[in-house]
Amino acid sequence: MALMTPARPADDVGEILLTAEQIAAMVAQLGRRIAADYQGKDLVLVSILKGALPFLADLMRATQIPLALDFLEVSSYGAETESSGVVRILKDLAQPIEGRDVVVVEDILDTGHTLSYVLEHLRGQRPASLRLCVLLDKPARRVIPVEIDYRGFEIPDKFVVGYGLDYAERYRNLPFVGVLKPEVYARHP
Ligand code: IMP
Ligand code: MG
Repeated sequence: MALMTPARPADDVGEILLTAEQIAAMVAQLGRRIAADYQGKDLVLVSILKGALPFLADLMRATQIPLALDFLEVSSYGAETESSGVVRILKDLAQPIEGRDVVVVEDILDTGHTLSYVLEHLRGQRPASLRLCVLLDKPARRVIPVEIDYRGFEIPDKFVVGYGLDYAERYRNLPFVGVLKPEVYARHP
C-alpha cells in the first residue's frame, strides 16, 4: 500500500548489522590485500550486477594498482528471499579473460548456487587465475561449498539489505547493512 511506504528506506530497518564505518574499514583492508597480491599482474575485477555495485565502487578505489573492470548479470531471487537454485547468465563479460588474473567481486555468499555457477562459467574461459572476494558470508545457509579468497564479514542466517543488497529491488542505497522490520514483508505479499 503506497501510504504505508516510508519516506526514507532507513525507516524500514529494524536492526543495523554493519555500520558504514565498519564496512569502509573492511573494504580498505580487502583492497590493500588485493593490491599487494596482484601488483604487476593483469587484474580484472569481475563483478556481479547489481548487488555488488557499491562494494565494487569502494573496493576498486581501495585497490591502488592498475586494474580493469567487467560485469556479469545473473538471474536472482526476484521478490523472494530464497534462492531457487536455478542460475542464468543475463549479461556476459564484455572482454575476454583468457590468460588474465580475475577476482570475482560479490556482495554475499549465501547458498552458493550463484557463485558456484559463475565461477564454473568463468573457469571455462581459461583465466590465468581466478579468485573470489565477497563482502558478506552466510555460512549457515551453504548448500554448495565455495572457497572464498577474500572475505569481509561472516553474518548470521538473516536476510539483510543495504550497501547494494535488495529486497524486491529496494534498499540497495542504504549506506549500512541491516535487517528489515518484520512488517515490511507483510507489505509485499
Ligand atoms: P546464493 O546463490 O544463494 O549464494 O545467493 C546469491 C545471491 O542471492 C546474492 O548475490 C544476492 O543477490 C542474493 N542474496 C542472498 N542472500 C541475501 C540477503 O540476505 N539479502 C539480499 N540478497 C541476498
Ligand atoms: Mg547479487
